[in-house]
Amino acid sequence: MNHRNNTLRNHAPRLGAGVAVFAGLVFLLSALTLAAPAKPASPAAPTIPAAPAAPASPLAPAAPTGKIDTEASCTASCHQDYGKKKHVHRAATTGQACKFCHRPASPNKHAFKPQPDTISELCFECHNEQAPSKKVRHMPFESGMCTSCHDPHQSDQAKLLKEPVPQLCQGCHGEDKFKGKVVHGPVAEGKCLGCHHPHQEENPRMLRKEPPELCFGCHDKVQKDAKGITLPATKWMFEAKAKAEAEAKAKADKGKDIKAKDGGKGKDGDKAKDEIPDIQLHPPFEAGLCTTCHQPHASDARRLLAAAYPLDFYASYSEATYGLCFTCHASDIFKEPRTLADTGFRSGNLNLHYRHVNRDKGRYCGACHSPHGSRQPKLINTSMHFGTRTLGIKYEKTETGGTCSPACHSSIAYDRCKSEIYTLKTTPRKGKDATEAELQAACGKEKK
Ligand code: HEC
Ligand code: HEC
Ligand code: HEC
Ligand code: HEC
Ligand code: HEC
Ligand code: HEC
Ligand code: HEC
Ligand code: HEC
Ligand code: HEC
Repeated sequence: MNHRNNTLRNHAPRLGAGVAVFAGLVFLLSALTLAAPAKPASPAAPTIPAAPAAPASPLAPAAPTGKIDTEASCTASCHQDYGKKKHVHRAATTGQACKFCHRPASPNKHAFKPQPDTISELCFECHNEQAPSKKVRHMPFESGMCTSCHDPHQSDQAKLLKEPVPQLCQGCHGEDKFKGKVVHGPVAEGKCLGCHHPHQEENPRMLRKEPPELCFGCHDKVQKDAKGITLPATKWMFEAKAKAEAEAKAKADKGKDIKAKDGGKGKDGDKAKDEIPDIQLHPPFEAGLCTTCHQPHASDARRLLAAAYPLDFYASYSEATYGLCFTCHASDIFKEPRTLADTGFRSGNLNLHYRHVNRDKGRYCGACHSPHGSRQPKLINTSMHFGTRTLGIKYEKTETGGTCSPACHSSIAYDRCKSEIYTLKTTPRKGKDATEAELQAACGKEKK
């Protein structure tokens, strides 16, 4: 019929076993009750020796005869509010079913306690598929606090949750880390369970998958941010690289075949050997360290960035402005107007990183680089955003420098071994050009 019935059928054998155990228990209990002297008990003062004919308290009218009628319905005249909410535990649907979990502490007292004593053991009697088995376990789950999240009887929330997610989670974890100027889409929608399992998982933090796979569950397609701006599908780069690598390998294998046939003299074979994938990924992106740069929940920084990084074309330079990049890269790259060692982006000893970036109105890294990957070398973007416009950039790398054709200025080359070819002189150049001897001594020895 419906889903509940289907799932109930799956559990029927286990529930059946519960009933069998219970039937045995009832039998045992009735035997005990019969053997016991018929001694009326006062439910109002259960520990004091019985005073005969104690008036039945209206608060505890359940055992006026002094015997627990284990066949009686607990909900018929008392506990009437059980079984009324939208979701009722299958194990507690009728007044008789209460006995699955509440076994009388003594045959003559209206004193029940969930048994076994440990609540999780009680739950695992029927839900052994939930028992701890995975590597990373949520603390309240591991410590058997099932009823901190589930009501054992009934709830208006699905899965008998005491509160809806995310309020349930935030009851213990607070709200602060899920708030910020930018709140991640699934967090804003309260979908904690889209990324975390509430009980246990093989991955740290009970994540359903580890990044990047976790992130690619949604970022395999374009998304729209809160302002309606379209975010590109992040996953395409991984796929493009895998494809390029497979193609390169196929070509190389073909090259080897040709070489094997013509004795290593074939031109095709040599060409194939040098083939490299035309897409490069930034190592932390490729390694799936998404959360080194992005907060998974919320941030005051745009794009959920985990550390300082401007997202505007022009930014005033300071080390703190680029904290995100400088967690891994040396800020030395940008320190000196002249260098023969700190960066490969220089013309002779003229530091072009310094010239573009280190000023009051410097260009941010994203004017040239993609933080994820690119089809051009050195993570140079194929296009950049300037205001509302998108402009193409064409970059070519050479052995000792490169050529760049952005929309900002005409095509211009730089060369680490020659200073004169870099002709752009918009502002006065600080420092002195290196001598020919200095250039020759340094050339090719810099950090790549
Ligand atoms: C699946 C096991 C289970 C079933 C079935 C069950 N209970 Fe409970 N009940 C518990 C547990 C566990 C607690 C302790 C709750 C806690 O620790 O918060 C409890 C607590 C109670 C309490 C104390 C107050 C409260 O609500 O926490 C009452 C009263 C109660 N149950 C009545 C009933 C009645 C009446 C039925 C039958 C309609 C029933 N129970 C069926 C497990 C069960
Ligand atoms: C006597 C057997 C039994 C015991 C003991 C028991 N359950 Fe259940 N529980 C069931 C059955 C049967 C279902 C229905 C299964 C289904 O629909 O797939 C169920 C369903 C659930 C569900 C899912 C409800 C939903 O709406 O889908 C939760 C959550 C749950 N139980 C929690 C608990 C917790 C927590 C305990 C311990 C306090 C517990 N159960 C003890 C038999 C039991
Ligand atoms: C931190 C809160 C939390 C704790 C503690 C917790 N659960 Fe759950 N449990 C959940 C949530 C949330 C779901 C719903 C998962 C979903 O819908 O994907 C759930 C689902 C379930 C289900 C239904 C599974 C299904 O697939 O329908 C059962 C049964 C269950 N829990 C039993 C337990 C037992 C037994 C314990 C104690 C050992 C426990 N839970 C502890 C939050 C919790
Ligand atoms: C009853 C309190 C309680 C509730 C409710 C609760 N948690 Fe937790 N959670 C804890 C405790 C305690 C820890 C362990 C201490 C810590 O790391 O803060 C923890 C740890 C975690 C961790 C980190 C696990 C790790 O390996 O470091 C995650 C993720 C988490 N909870 C997610 C959730 C989600 C999602 C929910 C809601 C479905 C939730 N929690 C509900 C108490 C709770
Ligand atoms: C988009 C996926 C995603 C969603 C949605 C999500 N989380 Fe997380 N959460 C993560 C990741 C990834 C980490 C691990 C971060 C790390 O280790 O640096 C994490 C870590 C945590 C931690 C432990 C570390 C910490 O920050 O204290 C808790 C607790 C937590 N999440 C709770 C929640 C709660 C509650 C919700 C819902 C309001 C939620 N998460 C929604 C991905 C997510
Ligand atoms: C080295 C830091 C860094 C790493 C690692 C990183 N990102 Fe980013 N990401 C950024 C920056 C910076 C931006 C903003 C780019 C801009 O707008 O100039 C961004 C933007 C995004 C965006 C918004 C859309 C876009 O492309 O502009 C998404 C989605 C995203 N990243 C997902 C991921 C995922 C998924 C991973 C892991 C596979 C990841 N990021 C790894 C720094 C990083
Ligand atoms: C359950 C789906 C889902 C998962 C999983 C997911 N995201 Fe997102 N993400 C979205 C949606 C929807 C948006 C667009 C709404 C928004 O801007 O938050 C988004 C937006 C973003 C943004 C841009 C935020 C902004 O508005 O500036 C970044 C960055 C991002 N995600 C990174 C990640 C990273 C990193 C992971 C993995 C840890 C991840 N996402 C996992 C759905 C998801
Ligand atoms: C988690 C560490 C980490 C962070 C954060 C990081 N990078 Fe990288 N980056 C690397 C590693 C590792 C390499 C490869 C080794 C190298 O060239 O130093 C690299 C290389 C590069 C390269 C050169 C690529 C090439 O082909 O030679 C550029 C450009 C770059 N990163 C830019 C950035 C920018 C811009 C940021 C800030 C948005 C940033 N990185 C943040 C780790 C990081
Ligand atoms: C005007 C364009 C431009 C800007 C802006 C820019 N870079 Fe670069 N960057 C380059 C070029 C071109 C190269 C390649 C140099 C070479 O090897 O020929 C490069 C190389 C790099 C490298 C490799 C090491 C090196 O210095 O040769 C890193 C790391 C790097 N950039 C980081 C950054 C970071 C971080 C920012 C922002 C703070 C930034 N870049 C801003 C153009 C730029």
